[in-house]
Amino acid sequence: MTKFSIIVAAGLNNEIGLNNQLLCHLPADLRRFKELTTGHPIVMGRKTWESLPIKPLPNRTNIVLSRNLALSIPEATVVHTLEEVGEIIDDEEEVFIIGGEKVYRDSIDFAHTLYLTRIENTFTADAYFPTIDEKKWQMVEDVFRASDEKNQYDMRFQKWIRKA
Ligand SMILES: NC(=O)c1ccc[n+]([C@@H]2O[C@H](COP(=O)([O-])OP(=O)(O)OC[C@H]3O[C@@H](n4cnc5c(N)ncnc54)[C@H](OP(=O)(O)O)[C@@H]3O)[C@@H](O)[C@H]2O)c1
Repeated sequence: MTKFSIIVAAGLNNEIGLNNQLLCHLPADLRRFKELTTGHPIVMGRKTWESLPIKPLPNRTNIVLSRNLALSIPEATVVHTLEEVGEIIDDEEEVFIIGGEKVYRDSIDFAHTLYLTRIENTFTADAYFPTIDEKKWQMVEDVFRASDEKNQYDMRFQKWIRKA
C-alpha cells in the first residue's frame, strides 16, 4: 500500500494560511520540508499549486488535485481524487501530502505519519489544519527549535504516527 505522510506548518491555533499564502517565512522549516520530501512524490491542492513561488518543486513528482476534469498543467501530474494518487504511485513509495486545508481535511483519516512544525505563535488566518485527534495519533518526536535572526518564531518539529 502506498504510504501517505502529511507535512504541515501550523500556528498554535492550527492556522496554516491567509489569502492563499503561507503565514510567515521560516527558512529552518523550509529546509526540513525539503529534506523530508525530496525524492518523493508530493500531492497538493490546486490552490496551493497556484500559490507556489517556484514550480514545480524540484526533484519531486508534483501531483495536483483538482475536480476540474479539463485542467491540464504541463509541469505537474493532475489527479481528480486522492484514490487516483494511490493508483499512479508505486506501492512501496512514501507520498507526502503538502496541503492546503481542503486536502489535509480529506487525507488525515488515511495518512500514517504526520510531520508537523508547530509555530509557537498565533496568526490571522483563513486556512486551518484539522485538530489532531490524540485518540488516533501519537507524537513520537518533538524537537524544539528556537527563533533566531532568520527565523522569527520558535518552532517545534514534531512527528506523529497513527495509533494501531
Ligand atoms: N502551512 C502549511 O504547511 C501550508 C501548506 C500548504 C498550503 N498552505 C496554505 O493553505 C491555503 C490553501 O488551502 P485551501 O484549502 O484553500 O486550498 P487547497 O487545499 O490547496 O486547494 C483546494 C483545491 O484543491 C482541489 N481539491 C482539494 N481536495 C480535493 C479532493 N479531495 N479531490 C479533488 N480535488 C480536490 C480543488 O480544486 P478545484 O477547485 O480545481 O476543483 C480545491 O478547490 C493557502 O493559504 C496555502 O498557503 C499552508
